[in-house]
Amino acid sequence: MEKKTAFGLHRLCVVLILILSAFPYSKGSWTWLGITALGIPEKMGCANLPLTNKQKDLCKRKPYLLPSIKEGARLGIHECQSQFKNERWNCSTTSERSVFGYELTSGTKESAFIYAVTAAGLVHAVTRSCSAGNMTECSCDTSLQGGGSPSEGWHWGGCSDHIQYGMGFSRKFIDNAVKNISIKGGDALLTMNQHNSEAGRQAIGKMMSTDCRCHGVSGSCAVKTCWKTMSSFERVGRFLKDRYENSIQVLDRSKKKVRRKEKDHRRIAVSKEELIFVNKSPNYCLEDKKLGIAGTRGRECNRTSTGPGGCNLLCCGQGYNTHVVRHVERCECKFVWCCYVRCRRCESITDVHTCK
Ligand SMILES: *[C@@H]1O[C@H](CO)[C@@H](O)[C@H](O)[C@H]1NC(C)=O
Ligand SMILES: *[C@@H]1O[C@H](CO)[C@@H](O)[C@H](O)[C@H]1NC(C)=O
Ligand SMILES: *[C@@H]1O[C@H](CO)[C@@H](O)[C@H](O)[C@H]1NC(C)=O
Ligand SMILES: *[C@@H]1O[C@H](CO)[C@@H](O)[C@H](O)[C@H]1NC(C)=O
Repeated sequence: MEKKTAFGLHRLCVVLILILSAFPYSKGSWTWLGITALGIPEKMGCANLPLTNKQKDLCKRKPYLLPSIKEGARLGIHECQSQFKNERWNCSTTSERSVFGYELTSGTKESAFIYAVTAAGLVHAVTRSCSAGNMTECSCDTSLQGGGSPSEGWHWGGCSDHIQYGMGFSRKFIDNAVKNISIKGGDALLTMNQHNSEAGRQAIGKMMSTDCRCHGVSGSCAVKTCWKTMSSFERVGRFLKDRYENSIQVLDRSKKKVRRKEKDHRRIAVSKEELIFVNKSPNYCLEDKKLGIAGTRGRECNRTSTGPGGCNLLCCGQGYNTHVVRHVERCECKFVWCCYVRCRRCESITDVHTCK
């Protein structure tokens, strides 16, 4: 019992410390992500959340968007960790200072991915809420209604996702809210971060697809109703991961047009769908407490893989330890008439490899 109380208190303290410590660092749009990382209690109002002043104002004016803001942050963080689970940098969140620590102001391509995926997460969550009819300010896309191609046997119907409202809100909430706020490193980082947030939002639009449903005598599909729908956020995440892998290094200059760093390619414009970065990434191999880099020591790796997640790459050539792990699980379950399930206990022994 005592233990439980202590644990509860500890949690509460951590939450409070996080909220308080979010303020001195409210130098970027990312403070809003604290909302998920903290598991904010439902009752907590806009005023107490780790938001910038502009974001708090927006939150107070539109409190009904708070669940979507939380959901957007959750989507973004979850997708980042899922896309990077086998990489040296695994998108782990810290419980100190800011949610992503060093990465938020580093100007690296990892930082680019975080900005893109979280801005996209907000668009996705808000749009879903619009389509669900939860919002008075937005709903399904009605501009398509009545259109279609009768000769080809289909027409627009149902609820098409209308991403404009979500895009606008994501811009207001993430970009405008921090325009005024200086980031260490100056305007170049601000430009980079906003570019990448926008690239994330554009990805939602780019990945829209059309779904149809057939009508007609027993599946004859004489008439089809079609609607536009956002991709699952997992697909958006994969798309952005690809953009991350092909991200472009740009010149570190303030208040000027984004220009590629590579001399021979300076004239090629950078499209707004591309992810950009100004600083080369560290290798993420060794722990660096100051920068909040965890290093890969102790990470579980795959001995037989030569790709990401393989011991060689993940452990940076430092080798790995092998532990024997015993699993006990229920297996060979049978349904016994009537009505229960009987299982055996199976033991299996596997080797687990972790980086040195
Ligand atoms: C990332 O790796 C660190 C070890 O370097 C580990 O402690 C952490 O749990 C991992 N995070 C995720 C989200 O997998
Ligand atoms: C819509 O609102 C209902 C009731 O508040 C909630 O349960 C549901 O999760 C919301 N849906 C979305 C997509 O926001
Ligand atoms: C933006 O900067 C102006 C002038 O420095 C200041 O008056 C205003 O309060 C700032 N806005 C925010 C949201 O910080
Ligand atoms: C390890 O990598 C191999 C080769 O890429 C793959 O077939 C196997 O499924 C991986 N094992 C685990 C546990 O992920």
